[in-house]
Amino acid sequence: MKRLAVLLSGRGSNFIAIHDAMLRGEIPGAEIALVLSNKADAPGLATARERGLISVAIPSKGMKRDEHDQAVIAELQRAEVDLVILAGYMRLLTPAFIAAFPQRILNIHPSLLPAFPGLDAQHQAFDYGAQIAGCTVHFVDEQMDHGVIVLQRAIAVNPDDTAESLSARILHEEHIAYAEAIRRVLSGNYTICNRRFIPKKN
Ligand code: GAR
Repeated sequence: MKRLAVLLSGRGSNFIAIHDAMLRGEIPGAEIALVLSNKADAPGLATARERGLISVAIPSKGMKRDEHDQAVIAELQRAEVDLVILAGYMRLLTPAFIAAFPQRILNIHPSLLPAFPGLDAQHQAFDYGAQIAGCTVHFVDEQMDHGVIVLQRAIAVNPDDTAESLSARILHEEHIAYAEAIRRVLSGNYTICNRRFIPKKN
C-alpha cells in the first residue's frame, strides 16, 4: 500500500473528493496515512477525524517557516509517507521540505498554469476576461505553482458566469482531476521528459 499524506489549511473539499474516490476503489493500492493541517481549526481536519483518519495539527502561527516545515517533515517521515498531497495547503514549502520528498509532492491549483499563479486564481482568470479556465495538478518544485504538470482540466467561461459560479465549476473539475492525477502518479507508468509528463503506453 502506498501511504499518502494530505496537507490542508481550510475546508478540505479536495481531500474529501480524494478520500471518496479511494473508498470507491478508484485509487487502487493507496491509503491516507494522515491528514495534516497548519491550522488546528481547519474544517478539513475535523472531517478527517470524523472519517476515522489520523489527523494532526501543527499550527504555523508564531513559528518560523523552516522550523514549522521541519516539524511537518518529521511527522511525515514518522508516518512513512510515500506521497504528499497538497490540497488547499496555503503555505510555500521551504527547499528542505521539497528535498525531503523529491518528485513526491503534488499540488492542485485552480487555474491553467502557467496562467494565474498565486492567490485567488479563479478571480484572477475571471477579472482578466479569460474565456477558458480550469485547474492543474502538478509536482511541487522550489518555485511557486511551477513544477511538472501531471494533469489539467479546462472549462469554458460562460458569458453569464460570476467569479463565484466559475470557481464552483473549477472546483468540480479539481475533484475529478486530483484523484485521476494521483492514480497516474502512483501507477509509476510515466516518464518525465524535460517538463513533460508522458504516460507510458501499455
Ligand atoms: C482549491 O480551490 C485549491 O485549488 C486551492 O485552494 C482551494 C482549496 O479548497 N489552492 C490554491 O489556490 C493553491 N495555490 P479545498 O480546501 O476545498 O480543497
